[in-house]
Amino acid sequence: MNPPETTMKNHPIGIFDSGVGGLGVLREIRKHLPHESIHYFADSRNCPYGSKTKEDALSLSRKNIEFLLRQNCKLIVIACNTVTAVAIKSFRSEYKIPFVGMEPALKPAALQTKTKKIGILATESTLNSKRFKHTFEQYAKGMEVFVQPGYGLVELVEQRTQNSDHAQRLLTQYLLPMMEKGVDTLVLGCTHYPFLMEMITKITKNRVTIIDPADAVANQTKKLLIQFNLVSNNPHPLFHFFTTGNKKIAKRFIDHAIKPPYILEQIEI
Ligand code: DGL
Repeated sequence: MNPPETTMKNHPIGIFDSGVGGLGVLREIRKHLPHESIHYFADSRNCPYGSKTKEDALSLSRKNIEFLLRQNCKLIVIACNTVTAVAIKSFRSEYKIPFVGMEPALKPAALQTKTKKIGILATESTLNSKRFKHTFEQYAKGMEVFVQPGYGLVELVEQRTQNSDHAQRLLTQYLLPMMEKGVDTLVLGCTHYPFLMEMITKITKNRVTIIDPADAVANQTKKLLIQFNLVSNNPHPLFHFFTTGNKKIAKRFIDHAIKPPYILEQIEI
């Protein structure tokens, strides 16, 4: 009989987010790992998680994980800064499979900035978390860091109104003060925010370097799969999407991330 790792190689990678934000991460994972089947879970009905209590975010995320485990996922990517910030530590000790998480990319920002002034846009929960405070203490030395909670931005993306006047007003309110302070590097600390890129670039007039950690997360996923001997060689990987929200909206985001064929289901868990 094969050892368990070998039989698990062609099991899917599980990815979840409070909504569609993590699809940007999925797109990068596809580039780095073209033979992997993926099950993506978007909890759009309960989105946003960033304004929920830690306990609520934890129990919703636990449900998402249990769901992905029932789909036989071999590794789970938490494509959500908010959940990573408040819960990844507990999940790593609670479950046996490997987890990949994500957090605001302050380290690469500190390496890139010339003005030593960095802006961070993330959810309130992420910015208030112990994990973020720790990252801040580690990498913000000698930098001026301007943190801004992105109130209302996740909802704009979930409703597909990311190019609306309202989006422009909110982003202007959040980004202009940073720009006036001389920020030259902006960290997007929430996976929904790259979907606002067009508007962000318009407002910042290409004067800031924007850092999205999706590529680094895909790299880390590959590294862990290699480490655990779990890399798939399936020439026909399968993609299965589950949403607790609106199927039509989910489909429009998915079509940006991946070419059909794929399966999309609206579910309740
Ligand atoms: N995509 C999640 C993140 O990266 C959104 C959080 C939310 O639901 O508020 O933080």
